Formats: sequence, structure tokens, C-alpha cells
Amino acid sequence: MDFKSNIIVEKLPKHIAIIMDGNGRWAKSQGLMRVRGHEKGTKAVRETVEACAELGLENLTLYAFSTENWKRPKLEVQTLMRLLVSSLKEEIKTLQDNKIKLQAIGCIENLPSKARKELREVIDKTSDNSHMTLTLALSYGSREELTQAVRQISEKVKNNIIDSETIDESTINKHLYTQNLPDVDMMIRTSGEKRISNFLLWQMAYAELYFTDILWPDFRKENLFEAIYEYQKRERRFGKTSEQL
Ligand code: FPP
Repeated sequence: MDFKSNIIVEKLPKHIAIIMDGNGRWAKSQGLMRVRGHEKGTKAVRETVEACAELGLENLTLYAFSTENWKRPKLEVQTLMRLLVSSLKEEIKTLQDNKIKLQAIGCIENLPSKARKELREVIDKTSDNSHMTLTLALSYGSREELTQAVRQISEKVKNNIIDSETIDESTINKHLYTQNLPDVDMMIRTSGEKRISNFLLWQMAYAELYFTDILWPDFRKENLFEAIYEYQKRERRFGKTSEQL
């Protein structure tokens, strides 16, 4: 089936978030070192970003490195950071050609200085692009994000900048790293694992979850189109009944 031509552009999700999982298993299945899986995974990143741009999707968020990923072997962490830098250098043209704005969420200050510098450059150069926002979650953990939001809000309450009685969901939203993004409409996780793994917990409250057995390095445009096609067949009720919609 040609999934792309069956996608209803007016009903595109506003925000897709992806847990790119299975790089290690892909490498193992080919008899290669884990880091080769990550290298191959960068190609799937490019395909996915291009596919989203082709459709006119507004927001794509990729879980590239979690707070827990720091515990991986040193060589693997170094490779992931090196791939981040080389991908940023290589993909700036794709971002500019497709008018994609890059941003990063997470404890960016924990990244090596080379990665921070490259990230800063690409973020600055693409800041006026308005067709799509590509958000890289780097050294990101949702509980950490919520914790820092609570800390900031408490500080403002203490300094009489916020009245605790007025705290509502929008107050929380404004103190998250994703403050400029809409809620996640669809979360895709590859590799057959069915977990959320500390990714955008607040933002995914009503997201449609889509799991596929495909390992991330094998993920292609057609797989993304299929996921969106599937999403459009689902009925999103947000707690209401079918009849109320
Ligand atoms: C999960 O696979 C993947 C990651 C921890 C990193 C994702 C990174 C990339 C796709 C490449 C670089 C990204 C950018 C944005 C340039 P895994 O290693 O946990 O796989 P496994 O579960 O099979 O071991």
C-alpha cells in the first residue's frame, strides 16, 4: 500500500516524538560493533526528518540521548557525541533547504564542549526557519525536566512572582523545556520495546502510542508514513465518548 498518498494532510499530527531504539541489536544482527548501529541510525534520522518535511509536519522530537545513557560504555558515549557533531555539520544544509529550525532539550550543559558549540551554531543559524521544528532530546530525562520545573516554580512562589493559588497546567507547561511545543500527538518507538522510558511523560498524556518491531537503523520514510496513516485511523477521544466528538 502507498501509505503516503493515503495520508490526510489536514489531519496530520502536530507533534510526533520518536524513541529511536534498536541500534545495538541491529549491529549485533549484522555481526558488527554496537557503535556501527548508531552510525547507521543517523541515516534513519535523515530519512525521518526529510519525510516529515515532505509531509509538512510542524514538530518532530527525537530522543537522541537520555540522562541514563551516560551509564553506557565510554566508547559508546564518545561515539554518540561524535556522531552528533558530525551529523550537525552534515545536516545543516538539509535543515536550511527545508526551513527546519533546530532546538535541543535536556541538560545540554552536560554535553562535551564540542557538541555544545556545534549545537549552538546550528540552533543559531536555523533560528529563523519556520516550516518545522526539530527538537533533539539530549541528556534528557522527563523526571529531571519536571523536577527542574518544580524548582523554578517554587523559587518564583518564594519571591512572590507567582501566587501558588494560580498554578495550573499552563504554569507547568511554561516551565518545561518544551514550552514552545504543542503536546505530543503520536509517540513512535522502534525495535519492539513497549515502554516510554522517561521521555516527555507530561507532554504525552494523550498521545497515541505506536510501536513497531523495525529496528531504528532499518526505519525508512515508508515506515513513518505507515505510522501516520495508522494514527489517522484511530479515534482520539480525550476522555469523551465517541458520540460527543
Ligand atoms: C537506542 O538504541 C539509540 C540510542 C541510545 C541513540 C540514538 C542515536 C542515534 C540514532 C544516532 C545519532 C543521533 C543523532 C540525532 C545524530 P540502543 O543502542 O539502545 O539499541 P539496543 O536496545 O538494540 O541496544
